[in-house]
Amino acid sequence: MATVVPALANLHTETRAFPPSPEFAAQANAQPGIYEQADQDRVAFWADQARSLAWATPFTETLDWSDAPAAKWFADGTLNACDNAVDRHVREGRGDRVAFHFEGEPGDTRTLTYADMHREVQKAANALESLGVSKGDRVAIYLPQIPEAVISMLACARIGAIHSVVFGGFSAESLRQRIDDAEASLVITADGGNRRGKHLALKPLVDEALAAGDHHPEPCATVKHVLTVQRTGQDTHWEKGRDVWWHDVVDPASDSHEPVMVEAEHPLFILYTSGTTGSPKGLFHSTGGYLTGVATTHKMVFDLKPETDVYWCSADVGWITGHSYIVYGPMTNGATQVLYEGTPNTPHEGRWWEIIQKYGVTIFYTAPTAIRTFMKWGEAIPNQYDLTSLRLLGSVGEPINPEAWMWYRRVIGGDRCPVVDTWWQTETGSIMISPLPGVTATKPGSAQKPMPGVGVDVVDDHGDPVPDGSGGYLVLTEPWPSMLRGIWGDRPRYERTYWSRFPGLYFAGDGAKKDADGDIWLLGRVDDVMNVSGHRLSTTEVEHALVSHPWVAEAAVVGASDDVTGQAVVAFVIIRSDAVDLNEDGHEVAVALRNHVSHEIGPIAKPRTILVVTEVPKTRSGKIMRRLLRDVAEHRPVGDVTTLADSTVMDAITAGLEAGKADED
Ligand code: WT7
Repeated sequence: MATVVPALANLHTETRAFPPSPEFAAQANAQPGIYEQADQDRVAFWADQARSLAWATPFTETLDWSDAPAAKWFADGTLNACDNAVDRHVREGRGDRVAFHFEGEPGDTRTLTYADMHREVQKAANALESLGVSKGDRVAIYLPQIPEAVISMLACARIGAIHSVVFGGFSAESLRQRIDDAEASLVITADGGNRRGKHLALKPLVDEALAAGDHHPEPCATVKHVLTVQRTGQDTHWEKGRDVWWHDVVDPASDSHEPVMVEAEHPLFILYTSGTTGSPKGLFHSTGGYLTGVATTHKMVFDLKPETDVYWCSADVGWITGHSYIVYGPMTNGATQVLYEGTPNTPHEGRWWEIIQKYGVTIFYTAPTAIRTFMKWGEAIPNQYDLTSLRLLGSVGEPINPEAWMWYRRVIGGDRCPVVDTWWQTETGSIMISPLPGVTATKPGSAQKPMPGVGVDVVDDHGDPVPDGSGGYLVLTEPWPSMLRGIWGDRPRYERTYWSRFPGLYFAGDGAKKDADGDIWLLGRVDDVMNVSGHRLSTTEVEHALVSHPWVAEAAVVGASDDVTGQAVVAFVIIRSDAVDLNEDGHEVAVALRNHVSHEIGPIAKPRTILVVTEVPKTRSGKIMRRLLRDVAEHRPVGDVTTLADSTVMDAITAGLEAGKADED
């Protein structure tokens, strides 16, 4: 197979390896025998892991794969995710342990122990029930990174309601799509959040989402109430009967609430993610299998010692990383965590390192794009802080280039901390490929080994495993407990998307390589999914947003490699000549289109580069040839054009780019 992401083609020439120190290895949660133990009986291994959760009814069946590819794990057991994440710790005498050191962007702080969380989730659960929410109902959560986000998720879980967290950076329209698809009856939001020293409004976007508008002739029919946390004190429109303040209904609610025990397969949450089409997919996860996956991997990969560690995952709870490695994994394991609301450079570029120093963070989990940003700002900044509390570093979200990996290890980890590069997806629920920090000699840029109990392979076009030293498509070969249970309301799409390319194998959408040792190196997506700063976007979704602007006749979007964000959105647009005079307004057009995409999808989807063209390359059957556009966007000679309907198109596009006609943000 051809190399998928050219920028990463040379990864496998990296040969350095860093074994764990003897001290780290000796104390590690996961010891070398763990792989053999899991290999002996994969299903029994997972059953053992699942038994460390608190079950109301213990399960007797482990895996039921008879309705493949819909899995059932631990199906006759019952439990509650909030009970596992909160109550259990209080019940077992750990109520005084800090669950969260919350740090607001403006510098306000809150400390919440497990006993505090227990009180808050019970109040919130009672309030949700008083608003008519019960088991199986869907609740949309659109909040900044504040403790109420975690409390809301857990309160839903406590009553068996299914949460659908929508990242606060998504637009009103994106929120509306997700509310409608899940038929949510409640939205939990805030007046606003703090971002880059400013108040970012959220409630007005909820109001806009629920109203009739351009894309929706009718107001939203399913949402009965909007529960709003007062975070910034911004003025907000108030819809009587629909809108309620958190402080009016949660604060005075009773702090006694029995968790609703649910079947292991009861959906815990829906999380929307971009696929290769215009509409996001509502992936849903189970309760028992999901919790087993996140708790087990969190213990093994992050080596958590709950009595002494201070763990910080910098992701937003709006993404799967926040669900699995802030809320459900770490809390089930009784971790003490840092939760930070804001951006890394507010009010100064040392903010994260200051937080690590202040709370004595020992385990830190972040994304390559953040690391590359810090590299750009210079190591003098982290060097001003005492980072010696750190003992383990993790990376997630996109391939990490060896330079960034080495910088992370040396500058942040003081050459002493193992760096674990963890590969997984919203779909997988928990980490699938990662070094084990006390076992694996880590290689800069490689995620290396399938987790114990997980089956991974790299296959060719026919689905046959490639030999060591070769590349192909990444697949998962066995069902695993935290696997997605489907796409909300669309089983055919679930089967088509993940299970049809290679029958019997889960196709992840990523390209990968096995090195001479059989270690796995991720090479990026092989489909039309982009990964910008670890955020997943669909090329089609951005194209749809662009063509919904009256000036745009046609649009083709590609993800092109970018030094900081991994990939960046590059848009090729054909403008209606009657609509605007490009000679006069070229830059204004680009600005307007960027704002339009931001309004339609969210600021994360804004194209970095906009190039106005008169034609986009298409096959004779009319399919956009993104491969060629990616060549242009990455300043490479354009590849094979023989399948193009009109082979001169690429010359014109390349000439336009060389003439400096691209508008860069
Ligand atoms: C896609 C999944 C998993 C949480 C964050 C993203 C890419 C993720 C890595 C990694 C190389 C990675 C893949 C994957 N990805 N982690 N360590 N190395 N690529 O979750 O939004 O579901 O995106 O992110 O392309 O398919 P997501």
